[in-house]
Amino acid sequence: MTNAELEQIVDTSDEWVYSRTGIRERHIAAENEATSDMAAQAARKAMKDGGIEPDEIDLIVVATCTPDMAFPSTACFVQKHIGAKNAACMDLSAACSGFLYAMDVGRQFVSTGGVQTALIIGAEKMSVVMDWTDRSTCVLFGDGAGAAILQAKGAPYGILTSVLGADGTLSDLLAIPGGGSRHPLSQQVLDERMNCLKMAGREVFKHAVTNMANSALEALGRCGATIEDVSCIIPHQANARIIQAIGQRIGAPLEKFYLNVDRFGNTSAASIIMALDEAARNGRIKRGELVLMVVFGGGFTWAASLVEW
Ligand code: UT7
Repeated sequence: MTNAELEQIVDTSDEWVYSRTGIRERHIAAENEATSDMAAQAARKAMKDGGIEPDEIDLIVVATCTPDMAFPSTACFVQKHIGAKNAACMDLSAACSGFLYAMDVGRQFVSTGGVQTALIIGAEKMSVVMDWTDRSTCVLFGDGAGAAILQAKGAPYGILTSVLGADGTLSDLLAIPGGGSRHPLSQQVLDERMNCLKMAGREVFKHAVTNMANSALEALGRCGATIEDVSCIIPHQANARIIQAIGQRIGAPLEKFYLNVDRFGNTSAASIIMALDEAARNGRIKRGELVLMVVFGGGFTWAASLVEW
């Protein structure tokens, strides 16, 4: 869906959306396509790339804030779709930060030896939680999925550190307030569109910059690395202006960041892994290089991971 198409739906313009966010278009899943359908498609590609058979997978973690249903978990539906019959399955709720949280959960399981092969997915159908009358949010988000396989290989590469953080006192600033046990689905919830994403954009912007910059620096510090050692930064793809501001704070030129927000918008938990996948496929990241991933989302939650590729 292009900005021009959005101009037909809400009072906005390509000029406003592009200049304020860097987004030109986003993808919208088909009506009959749920989050687990996209997640399974990404999982199949990851398994093919890694040469992994479905029955080798011991754990599936799906990071999402748009699950198929309250339960069963989206991970259980993915298991069904891909035939990973030996896997334990769970979803992880950390909004946009979900993929890096899930990757660290997978890392913990794999590094203790409790799990040999973990399938970590970030997948979202954000289009179903958009208020398509609210121009301040509906222009920002898109649908998508990405997947990664984690194994303990003993090779001189992998996840070096992960920094995870949260501040639940600011939960009201970015939320889907209705449809859960606090405000169960009712006519009033629907009338007030409380089943849709609500965001205090300016506030979120400020906290996103501060927390992503701080957690990126913390991840580097823990490993005794500097920003100069990093070849590529994969930031949460929410807004190109947020990414620029982070760059200024951590002393990284814009060229060091991988950006695809122009083509996908903010895909929430799918954002980091979709960008990482693209960057790896198109040669932007090479074996042995340091990659810094950093993300921020509702909760608030944030995370940064430093990876040797
Ligand atoms: O993934 C989780 C993290 N989420 C984010 O990181 C999002 C963080 N926030 C942002 O990216 C930015 O705050 C936004 C892109 C949401 C908004 O940009 P902004 O520069 O902070 O704009 P604003 O909210 O201050 O709004 C400026 C003006 C307002 O008009 P007035 O009051 O100045 O007359 C808005 O009504 O822009 C107006 N506006 C729009 N105009 C055209 C808001 N949305 C639109 C729109 N088209 N889509």
